[in-house]
Amino acid sequence: RRGLFAGLGATGIAGLAAGGLAGHAVTEGTRSENPALAPAHARVRTTGGPPPALALPTPAHVHVLALDLNGEEAPEVRRAAREVLQAWDDHVPALHEEGLSGLVEGSPTQGLHPASLGVTTGVGASLLERAGLPGHRTEEMADLPSFGTDELEPEHCDGDLMLHVGAEDPVVVSSAVDHLVGLAGEHARVRWALPGFRRSTATAHDPSATPRNLMGQIDGTVNPDPAEALFDTQVRAVHGPPDLAWMDGGTYVVVRRIRMLLDAWFARGADEREAVIGRRLSDGAPLGGEHEDDLPDLAARHDDGTPVVPEHAHIRLASPEATLGARMARRSFSYDLGWQPGGRRRAGMLFTAWQADPRRGFTAVQRSLDEGGDALNDYVRHEGSALFAVPAAAPGRTHPLLDHL
Ligand code: HEM
Repeated sequence: RRGLFAGLGATGIAGLAAGGLAGHAVTEGTRSENPALAPAHARVRTTGGPPPALALPTPAHVHVLALDLNGEEAPEVRRAAREVLQAWDDHVPALHEEGLSGLVEGSPTQGLHPASLGVTTGVGASLLERAGLPGHRTEEMADLPSFGTDELEPEHCDGDLMLHVGAEDPVVVSSAVDHLVGLAGEHARVRWALPGFRRSTATAHDPSATPRNLMGQIDGTVNPDPAEALFDTQVRAVHGPPDLAWMDGGTYVVVRRIRMLLDAWFARGADEREAVIGRRLSDGAPLGGEHEDDLPDLAARHDDGTPVVPEHAHIRLASPEATLGARMARRSFSYDLGWQPGGRRRAGMLFTAWQADPRRGFTAVQRSLDEGGDALNDYVRHEGSALFAVPAAAPGRTHPLLDHL
């Protein structure tokens, strides 16, 4: 199984034969690493490869939801989990192939192409605990530690199940979410939900450029490349023991709802904003570098001895040097929910980090950002947090957890 993600280049994805991630999909035909070729019309199929949530190009719209299963006693929870996972298993392949219009007469998506629709599902540790299956909880599913800068709100945290739905078109996302939540029926209820977006390729001068977040920064430059062998080892988990084998070859996703204090941010001068991240606003080049893809020179100093990339810059504290080589695949989206009553802005980042082991990925980096005093901490608030296991699935095989429920 190892090495499966390796070599998923412009032509490689569709060639995979087996062992993809649950509910996971690859694009037929011409999916490319190059978002310039963003396949607004590409179809997704469920025969292997990385989850749609990790596949390139990243869609313009997502909706990430957490659901809680109904029921008090373990057998009731297990039954509810079975019903929901089975219903999603039964419907997701057809959704990927035909879109909702193929499943529901009179759907809002009539006349729309499925537009890269990709559904990724995940399992929270609370599901296993509530279902009386604690022995199936991997060490990687340990609760995330709390961080000094956390301002987590329980109504935006955790959950038994995750639904991650992405597509180029917001109507396609909305309708698919509605359908999938509807399938969960009386067995589960939505705990929290956060729709996110990034710039559409249609409006970009250069659709191949790395997108910007709502702070105006080019965001997503340093990320493992699905085309490289390393991607596999960084993202895919390996589990031998029978109780844990349901997660062998799977991946773990950390979802954070991070509010941005945009007024405070844009009140700062551009120089100060660049120092906070350690990269130029204009082109995303590391300070002291020339191009976005240049490696940051963390040892470089100005004539007066001060570091070119400041001590508390986000990219210094998030770097492999500061985090013992921690790596994860980041797929960040913006969210904008307008204003709260009372005038508080509700916008920020829907941050997702995918890795083989969150303790050596997200947690290692977040600890460094927290304890090292990331300059960005003054402008962001972590309000929501969740960790989900995304198991692997072979084509035609049902969700691996169903064997245990
Ligand atoms: C790099 C923004 C939160 C991990 C970056 C970059 C920006 C950025 C602009 C530089 C470009 C790039 O390489 O993508 C933000 C903002 C955040 C945020 C605005 C919050 C709203 C986080 C969190 C983590 C994280 C929570 C993980 C715990 C990283 C990593 C890098 C990075 C690993 C690459 C560092 C390197 O150069 O090696 N971030 N980030 N970021 N960020 Fe964040």
